[in-house]
Amino acid sequence: MHRIIIEGNNTLNGSIKISGSKNSAVALIPAAVLCDEKVTIANVPNISDIDALDEILNYLGAIVDKKDDTITIDSSKIENKLIPEKITKKLRASYYFMGALLSKYKKVEMYFPGGCAIGARPINLHLKGFKALGAKVEEKDNLFIITADELVGTKINLDFASVGATINLMLAAVKATGTTVISNAAKEPHIVNVATFLNNMGAKITGAGTSEIKIIGVKHLHSCFHEVVPDYIETGTYMILASLIGKEVTIKNIIPDHVKSVISKLEEIGVPMEIGVDFIKISAPEKLKAVNIKTQVYPGFPTDLQQPMATLLTQAKGKSMINETIWENRFLNIAELKKMGATAEVITNSKAVIVGPCKLKGKKVKATDLRAGASLVIAGLIADGQTIIENADYILRGYEGIVEKLSKVGAKIRLEKMD
Ligand code: EPZ
Repeated sequence: MHRIIIEGNNTLNGSIKISGSKNSAVALIPAAVLCDEKVTIANVPNISDIDALDEILNYLGAIVDKKDDTITIDSSKIENKLIPEKITKKLRASYYFMGALLSKYKKVEMYFPGGCAIGARPINLHLKGFKALGAKVEEKDNLFIITADELVGTKINLDFASVGATINLMLAAVKATGTTVISNAAKEPHIVNVATFLNNMGAKITGAGTSEIKIIGVKHLHSCFHEVVPDYIETGTYMILASLIGKEVTIKNIIPDHVKSVISKLEEIGVPMEIGVDFIKISAPEKLKAVNIKTQVYPGFPTDLQQPMATLLTQAKGKSMINETIWENRFLNIAELKKMGATAEVITNSKAVIVGPCKLKGKKVKATDLRAGASLVIAGLIADGQTIIENADYILRGYEGIVEKLSKVGAKIRLEKMD
């Protein structure tokens, strides 16, 4: 386990380069096994979730070659075998191997996936979609056995615009017989990134990024080169931080269109921004205004930025309300922020109130999940004194080089390995 130590209250100045999207890369890598030839994916973030997926690829017998941020995957000789539960449990995205292996072999056995403890995280919509495509799903002690004589294209309506179910069903449908239409599909940028990857291999997918995705099944997928889209959640995290203690911070290698909801919320809070083609420049204003945040599916305000935003709201003048509509257990950072002096209350599992501004003091706190950890890093950077963040491995799952990137712009932050 690691912990992060921060000496707070240093103004940040300079530029931060955004890495490839975690939530895209963790879908692209399992999707690669669909191809019977070598594929190359560039701009892959160097984070522990990717290491866990590499472990699965190697376990299945894929030939994986990594050079800097580029990974080449040859799945022509992989074996469709049961992945040990201890590996599957390392992350939520292991479940994309369900859709990919079912699509390739018409059979897959897999344990229930892992992931941050931000809710029950059922996969019923994924399984319902697999069944709609003609698969039989059995479950025994958290082990799923999914088989199909044939996967046949059909209409699938998602009860909720689930990111994971949209991607998993795209993977399952891409080699099915006939046409599949997924309606009420998720529209996040990573859905488009995965659909483009599959189309580069020869798939026939249209509508990704809208609520209706059409997939015409194909027989063969060929070699291709693809690039991971910039991480809009990492982008938003650093935008929020710069709005608090940035002298002049430029966040570069981004797609501003992907953070439109964050830009408009920060404008409402009173943060001036210079928005370029592939960068945003932010200098923290004197005053921040309290606002209400309601998390929604893309392109609404992202649930993954709710916790980092909560830290900013401790410094905003007035009473802010947070309404978390996606996950039922995503306020675990509030208790830690209160240890640092924040005035905040969790009202229900979907509502929290924060009153500011109040000066935070450095304390020993605990990261409970990835984005809660990000919320505490921001808190430590603006607090007086030293903050120690335990369980920092959560943070390393989703933020490539966070200590290096922040040190480069003047933060006093370091990583310590605990034995
Ligand atoms: C993805 O999770 C992301 N993870 C999450 O980011 C993100 O919070 C979430 O999408 C929403 O944007 C990855 O991409 C690896 P969902 P996912 O399926 O796919 C319910 C982070 O911090 N649901 O869109 O698991 C579910 O319970 C992580 O990077 C069902 O009920 O999210 C939740 O309430 C955390 N049944 C809602 O839908 C299902 O079968 C959203 O889930 C599937 C989902």
